[in-house]
Amino acid sequence: MVIVSKFAKADVSIAYNIFKKDRISPWSFTTFEKSALNGISLVAKQECDITGYVLLTSVLDEFTIEDITVSDDYRGQGLGRRIMEAGFELANKMQQKTVYLEVRCSNQTAIKLYRSMGFELVGERKNYYETTSNVFSADNSSLASPYSKISAPRENAYVMKKVL
Ligand SMILES: CC(C)(COP(=O)(O)OP(=O)(O)OC[C@H]1O[C@@H](n2cnc3c(N)ncnc32)[C@H](O)[C@@H]1OP(=O)(O)O)[C@@H](O)C(=O)NCCC(=O)NCCS
Repeated sequence: MVIVSKFAKADVSIAYNIFKKDRISPWSFTTFEKSALNGISLVAKQECDITGYVLLTSVLDEFTIEDITVSDDYRGQGLGRRIMEAGFELANKMQQKTVYLEVRCSNQTAIKLYRSMGFELVGERKNYYETTSNVFSADNSSLASPYSKISAPRENAYVMKKVL
């Protein structure tokens, strides 16, 4: 059975490990902890294991999904959708009117989930996210010094919105 609830302090480090696993430039633990323990972010547990979470913020009547992640082994089983629905329930209780999020343009899995839950594309932020690619200068040598590295290309973010 999936239980989705507000974060307790003891949940944070396990959720942080799930977060860190496939992030290119993860937030620091302190930043993550502050967001997880803000009183509205939610964590999912199955048989006492932490299997996913959503980090939420609220300003006036506007909710933002800062991040949602499901642990590798539990993906594709409806858990992401379940966590999002719990977020919407909370947003409705708090009389929020809209939910915003940002997502990498390449993250088709997440975009498909968001669209299927009623989010629409409302904007695009250029060069918003770091990428892993490292482009080296002309000689392309593996011995090139770090100073010959050209900035890695960055990826655009889609801004998506759902009216509650
Ligand atoms: C995005 C993420 C949270 C989805 O969680 P999930 O539990 O796997 O998703 P669900 O099983 O609830 O699937 C919900 C919908 O997402 C989409 N989806 C899920 N897995 C997919 C895949 N591998 N390919 C394409 N679409 C997929 C589908 O629309 C699916 O609905 P459907 O089953 O009716 O077709 C999860 O893949 C994840 O943690 N990814 C890494 C972190 C991340 O990218 N977070 C988003 C940051 S903006």
